[in-house]
Amino acid sequence: MTPPRVHITTYGCQMNQLDAELVAEVLRASSAQLVADPKAADVLLFVTCSVREHAENRVFSNIGKLAPRKRREPHLVVGLLGCMAQEHGPAVRRRAPVIDLVCAPGRLAELPALIAEARAGRKREALDPPRGHADFAASDAALDDAEVRRPLCGSSPGSPGRGRGKTGQAYVVAMRGCDNFCSYCVVPLVRGPERCRPPSLILEEVRRLLGQGARRITLLGQAVNKYAAEEGGRRWDLADLLEKVAEMPGLARLSFITSHPKAMTERLAQVFRDVPAVTPYLHLPAQSGSEAVLERMNRGYTAEEYMDRVAMVRALRPDVAVASDFIVGFPGESETDFEATCRLVRRARFSGAFVFKYSPRPGTAAAERLADDVPDAEKRRRNNRLLALVEEITGEENRKFVGRTVRVFVEEISPRPHARKGSDPFFAAANPQSAIRDPQLRGRTPCNRIVVFDGPPQLVGTEVDVAVIDSGPLTLFATRIAPT
Ligand code: 5AD
Ligand code: SF4
Repeated sequence: MTPPRVHITTYGCQMNQLDAELVAEVLRASSAQLVADPKAADVLLFVTCSVREHAENRVFSNIGKLAPRKRREPHLVVGLLGCMAQEHGPAVRRRAPVIDLVCAPGRLAELPALIAEARAGRKREALDPPRGHADFAASDAALDDAEVRRPLCGSSPGSPGRGRGKTGQAYVVAMRGCDNFCSYCVVPLVRGPERCRPPSLILEEVRRLLGQGARRITLLGQAVNKYAAEEGGRRWDLADLLEKVAEMPGLARLSFITSHPKAMTERLAQVFRDVPAVTPYLHLPAQSGSEAVLERMNRGYTAEEYMDRVAMVRALRPDVAVASDFIVGFPGESETDFEATCRLVRRARFSGAFVFKYSPRPGTAAAERLADDVPDAEKRRRNNRLLALVEEITGEENRKFVGRTVRVFVEEISPRPHARKGSDPFFAAANPQSAIRDPQLRGRTPCNRIVVFDGPPQLVGTEVDVAVIDSGPLTLFATRIAPT
């Protein structure tokens, strides 16, 4: 049989983006060919997210559209990978009969065999036993192995990072799984219990990625600040790990996502003050500002404790940008609870926040024990109100950057350039030459704010100083400072 031509589509979080890279690596090692165009593929893989029903519906709708093609090309293989695979198991075929193979996040190393079987007409699934009681050691080892071989995201044709991959940026898994069991969240059910990778493995991988040209490293984990390992006769927490990674030559910026407020220690906050490579950016999801809701969410902190931790970090390094996630319309959330969330948002002055409408996930404590009693129209209203409030504040915070010089790590040519060139006289006046000659580039400040400015494409993957000339709630607009 000819080697399969595989296309990978990725949905969801950074962990999924990394999983997609691992899938690519596992397949490359098995002689499969990765293709960038789904029409040229005979195996279509979907790395999926089940954190909200909306995300799942999108996947079902896109996979459903493949039915006519599957009728025309009966040998086409469709694979469901990632969190939805573990969540739904073989039953997923009742809803989406075009699916041939189903593979859980912990089983990705088995994909070459699953694909070969599917091409021979045998539909199969590779799942972890339910509720995270599996022994993950073997599958983690296989993933570690793929991780050590994986090239930089977006660096080879057909790799899933293509188009989305950010030059010079690499994710490295510090922890897999989650033990927090926030009552709304499906992640502990589909990704299993917390497992910390040994520091030596993480350091080796960072060294290799830096050697391949990465300049920015982001350590990943669902609650990465709970990192705890023992190796070489000593204990390691996330602060130890960050300090060691920061010593590596070639590294420009080091970040970590996501942090859990209940595990935010002073020791970790000190890293922001003491380790220059660590960027002043902290993703610290609050989820709600209401004590009663936080309790029902099983988050393990009060709104006051949350604010104390933000204050602790800012006392040590005032310019840390804190970003958050919120869920609105959680079971029993009253208008008073929602107002408490708005109050927390006003006090914390986030640099950004994602807002989600509560979506009951099968198997979670909230879905099983609490009635989804906030009507959808009300969820939508709160969602819009909270987003407007977040943007009002991020807009005000961003305005403080106007007139300042910031160091931007240039990630890419703007995929959707902001209006300029004539239609924006400010830009044209500030940048008359390059507005015509250069494309718009998009990058990040150390505090992770998005900056756009006009410049030559060869700046992608480098750091440059730019002058901020205007701002919006989500973006800083800048011009290059002429090299002196
Ligand atoms: N409904 C809505 N939002 C959710 N999140 C996680 N589970 C749910 C759910 N059931 C949100 C949380 C989390 C982010 C990744 O997704 O805010 O931080
Ligand atoms: Fe889900 Fe909570 Fe774990 Fe985050 S910390 S992945 S919200 S259970």
